[in-house]
Amino acid sequence: MAPVCVRRILISESVDPCCKKILQENGIEVTEKQNLTKDELVAEIKDYEGLVVRSATKITAEIINAADNLKIIGRAGTGVDNVDVDAATKKGIIVMNTPGGNTVSAAELTCAMIISLSRHVPQAVMSMKAGKWERKKFMGSELYGKVLGIIGLGRIGKEVATRMQSFGMKTIGYDPITPPEVSATWGVEQMSLEQLWPQCDYITVHTPLMPSTTGLLNDATFAECKKGVKVVNCARGGIIDEDALLRALESGQCGGAGLDVFVEEPPKNRALVDHFNVISCPHLGASTREAQARCGQEIALQIVDMLKGRELVGAVNAQVLAHSFSPESHLWIRLGEALGAVLRSCTTSKQPYDQLMFFFQSNLVCGLQLFTHLYSWVILLAQFRVSTLLKGTAARCEAQPCDLWVQRQ
Ligand SMILES: NC(=O)c1ccc[n+]([C@@H]2O[C@H](COP(=O)([O-])OP(=O)(O)OC[C@H]3O[C@@H](n4cnc5c(N)ncnc54)[C@H](O)[C@@H]3O)[C@@H](O)[C@H]2O)c1
Repeated sequence: MAPVCVRRILISESVDPCCKKILQENGIEVTEKQNLTKDELVAEIKDYEGLVVRSATKITAEIINAADNLKIIGRAGTGVDNVDVDAATKKGIIVMNTPGGNTVSAAELTCAMIISLSRHVPQAVMSMKAGKWERKKFMGSELYGKVLGIIGLGRIGKEVATRMQSFGMKTIGYDPITPPEVSATWGVEQMSLEQLWPQCDYITVHTPLMPSTTGLLNDATFAECKKGVKVVNCARGGIIDEDALLRALESGQCGGAGLDVFVEEPPKNRALVDHFNVISCPHLGASTREAQARCGQEIALQIVDMLKGRELVGAVNAQVLAHSFSPESHLWIRLGEALGAVLRSCTTSKQPYDQLMFFFQSNLVCGLQLFTHLYSWVILLAQFRVSTLLKGTAARCEAQPCDLWVQRQ
């Protein structure tokens, strides 16, 4: 038995058509409605058990609270910044994304930024289009032999490292979780940030945006860098402090910046975008046909796998919800359902109880497992109000994998 039943899914953005196809092939009714306003989505969402988005749809607590039937929110892409995950978790809604689907695309854009910064390609293109021929102005520098500092050595950081090594760059980095011996196998020497800043000719950030990474590059850390250091942010706006970056660009402490992401998107403050030494893109890291196809396919397959009870992949609120869907937990969920059936029969009977005792006959009930699943009991008893139950009559329910009896004392 699948733990979650999803029959209707709304796709509220332009997601690769393979997503719809895979869902439909697996018996799910799919509706595509793009550019819904918040109020339209609030009204619409009631009819669906699943929602698939990219990054434009903002799934706020208001929308989640209106979504009475919603069981799953699938984000075709990395990050879930546009989803209020806490509100979804409180409502028992699984939020999943496809973190690996756009790794290569984001890494390639980062490399394009580094190369463009070294040779001023975008500025030279603009100059040519303006009818000029400015050879001296765009004197560049080789990447060969330069030091690239990579902050965040996860999926994208690793791909950037291996690609830029082929240009002869020395790659150093920092990551609090990826072990140094692991990053060493793909050519990245890890060190503390204090050691890293003064060595780098280029710095690229590939961390999530969270309190510990907000403003990683700021006035103080720019001051520790080599004069003229070039920086790239294709991760999330705010990892490089935008005001500090502008100050560093104006003083020459920073020699150039490649920005794909901004604190506010699109940025209303144009000071960085308009700066001559800044090259920028409108958040294009994942915008390739290949990445979109991969993310559309992956989110559909992940949803189908979950519904078929096969596996739960990519759930970001997994710690809270995932083990409710593991194969081992299915047995416990079924036990909970069996208990519910018994208790329901108790509540509808006339003869009162003083005490209820449950007897289990199953190899499932061993100390640790019973303890870890105790929370199910608490939820169950809360739902069925013990005082009401005590007025019930004898009942018995035989359910696989456990036989259980309720006995009158
Ligand atoms: N521009 C785009 O369109 C685009 C596309 C894909 C991903 N991204 C973003 O790129 C970033 C990296 O994505 P990923 O798939 O490589 O993620 P990932 O989870 O694979 O890697 C992130 C790494 O950052 C590390 N990290 C966490 N805190 C850190 C800290 N304080 N200092 C240094 N490292 C720290 C983690 O240990 C992890 O190894 C994310 O912010 C993601 O949202 C942007």
